[in-house]
Amino acid sequence: MTERHRGIFSILTHASVYEAVQSLLGARAVRDQFARRYVRAKAGDRVLDIGCGTGSILAHLPEIDYHGYEPNPRYVERARSAYAGRGTFHAGYFSADAAKALEPFDVVILSAVLHHIPDAEAIELFALLRTILRPGGRVVTLDNVRVAHQNPLASLLIKFDRGRHVRSAESYKALAERSFQHIAGEVVQRAFPPSTYFYMTAQ
Ligand SMILES: C[S@@+](CC[C@H](N)C(=O)[O-])C[C@H]1O[C@@H](n2cnc3c(N)ncnc32)[C@H](O)[C@@H]1O
Repeated sequence: MTERHRGIFSILTHASVYEAVQSLLGARAVRDQFARRYVRAKAGDRVLDIGCGTGSILAHLPEIDYHGYEPNPRYVERARSAYAGRGTFHAGYFSADAAKALEPFDVVILSAVLHHIPDAEAIELFALLRTILRPGGRVVTLDNVRVAHQNPLASLLIKFDRGRHVRSAESYKALAERSFQHIAGEVVQRAFPPSTYFYMTAQ
């Protein structure tokens, strides 16, 4: 299992509950920083967003040629109604077959997705992503991260995260290193709610 989805976690599969919790956790500000500093998409760029959720990153991006993939059909439905005309939303997992059917991309986004994916699957995903980037293209990721002396409340948020694979910065980098030569990352602490994120670029 890649994420918790039973019991209390099952209510998060509803798009409106998920968005409300994200809002309480200050996700909008985190996404905005991620979009400006890491995604850095220019108008007209081809952008692939894997595990796109309800498509919220689009609120922070210019007019781009956007393709989102998302396994939860409820999130896809919300994304299609909230961002109609801004891109194409595909229900399901991104796969080698899907990659073959698409033109190459300038940017691939994995926003709060890697910590839902076990190592072997993530390593395979990075290998696939390398094949669908334009020359000079990049993969950008954002996730909760484990750090030394973590704020106890940040640790608690990680403990109750649906994603079961929150890692250290080095462990996130190791997933991309097999397929990409240049990996850059930054750990960012947020005061409220206390949380620690890792932003990574792989080229
Ligand atoms: C925390 S949400 C982030 C959603 C969105 N990217 C955002 O930043 O708002 C994690 C998303 O990853 C999706 N997901 C879980 N496992 C996945 C996998 N193996 N491949 C792709 N997406 C996955 C979930 O359905 C969920 O929408």
